[in-house]
Amino acid sequence: MLADLKKLKDEALTAINAAADVLNLEELENRFLGRKSGEITNLMKGLKELAVDAKREAGAVANEVKTAVAEALATKRNELAGVSQSEALSAEKLDITQSYLPPVEQGHYHPSTLVQTDLEDLFLSMGFVVLDGPELESDYYNFTAVNVPPEHPARDMQDTFYIKNHSGWVMRTHTSPVQVRAMQKYGAPLRGIVPGKCFRNEATDARHEHTLYQLEGIVVDKNINFSHLKGVLEAMARHLYGANTQVRLRPKFYPFVEPGVNGEVTCFLCAGQGCRVCKKSGWLEILGAGMIHPNVLREGGIDPKIYSGFAFGCGLDRLTMLKYGIDEIRVLKAGDLRFVNQF
Ligand code: PHE
Repeated sequence: MLADLKKLKDEALTAINAAADVLNLEELENRFLGRKSGEITNLMKGLKELAVDAKREAGAVANEVKTAVAEALATKRNELAGVSQSEALSAEKLDITQSYLPPVEQGHYHPSTLVQTDLEDLFLSMGFVVLDGPELESDYYNFTAVNVPPEHPARDMQDTFYIKNHSGWVMRTHTSPVQVRAMQKYGAPLRGIVPGKCFRNEATDARHEHTLYQLEGIVVDKNINFSHLKGVLEAMARHLYGANTQVRLRPKFYPFVEPGVNGEVTCFLCAGQGCRVCKKSGWLEILGAGMIHPNVLREGGIDPKIYSGFAFGCGLDRLTMLKYGIDEIRVLKAGDLRFVNQF
């Protein structure tokens, strides 16, 4: 019996070693270890005819043979699958420290948000506070409080969305109403900026949107004059577009300032030489500004004989477009990932 077992073991190991493929291995497994008529199984069935001592000895050897053949089968199987035993084991390793969540792609800021937060940082560093105001605004704050009384023709400068069945309410057309809200709330002296969403009832094209972002600035203190305004605007323009950027201010009427100006910066593309983007002028309009009208200061509860101030309002979308060379305003809010993912 022992000799038979040994012979069978050698036979099995040689055959397994020589096996050419997995099917072959399966046949061998059946032939030697098969539960019903495997050769080793059959031999082991004969154990019960042996005497007690011989049975014990042969039983132990038979088990060894069975284990050796099973191991050889497993090793060969891995070898045929191209994996070594240790590789097979380490592939089974379970890393319990690994997160059970799949990796998430990290998000990023929209270009408009990048410019807005960049400017918030700049103005905070100059001692301004960042203010907020409602987008659904009263007619009073949007117009009357900033020196545009009812029926005044200046209301036509901005095409307004009025609220149906709620006369006296509008979607704010600019961030200027927050000038008066801030003065009423904080009084003078005051330094603040107001980034925010505004709405205008106008046809959209490459440069106009019905929903737009503005950044308002307001400074009220004793002895504030026009050169303070110019200094702040230059600081902003150079921060955004580089140290060589020039600012040009030319008279323009806004009811809430006196004098009022429109502000331009040297074209980022041609550096003032004149090109397609600046329509050959070398300048790009980015804002309206001026010294706060005494009527507006009064409306804010501030005495214009003691205090003076300046305000400016720039198109934040426009600043973003100029900063990144975007020539179509509508892509900013279209939600197209091919655009947004470039930033
Ligand atoms: N509110 C003006 C606009 O929307 C811009 C502006 C702000 C002009 C402050 C002067 C002073 O066009």
